[in-house]
Amino acid sequence: MAAPGGASLDLGELASWARRMAEEERRHASEMKKMASRLHHPVLRALFTAIATDSEKHAVFYESLAELAENPQPGITEDDLEMIRSTIEEHIREEAEAVERVRKLLETVDDPRMKVILSALASDEATHHAILLAVKKDIASRETISEQDVWDAVWRDSPWKGSPGG
Ligand SMILES: [Fe+2]
Ligand SMILES: [Fe+2]
Repeated sequence: MAAPGGASLDLGELASWARRMAEEERRHASEMKKMASRLHHPVLRALFTAIATDSEKHAVFYESLAELAENPQPGITEDDLEMIRSTIEEHIREEAEAVERVRKLLETVDDPRMKVILSALASDEATHHAILLAVKKDIASRETISEQDVWDAVWRDSPWKGSPGG
């Protein structure tokens, strides 16, 4: 499927492409999930379920891209910020504890099948932790914040940004 782009970006084209991609991801997710649920081995079931869940996540990413293309100024409401503030604190604490335990186990267990699961957990939770911490530091703890501040902060620390060696 041809992706939009080139010299001049057509936002309408971007939006409809992203909506098509979202549908494709949802179809992949449900096929993969169906297959995974029939697998007998717990590790294989876990891995394919994880890919299916990631596809669902990608569908949401594509949908948010489409929404942005259709409405470039959605605005961050005080309600949004309040919900985030009241929810992330406990998650950050609990996930940090879990990650520590998972990393210790990773050093202790020899079973390669358990290692696969533990290392997937460790890397996912490290990503969650980095995002939640960035949000907490730059968004939740400030009195006033502009949208530009939010995106600068999240982009700067984003584990999704990707950079050489990181
Ligand atoms: Fe995907
Ligand atoms: Fe998590």
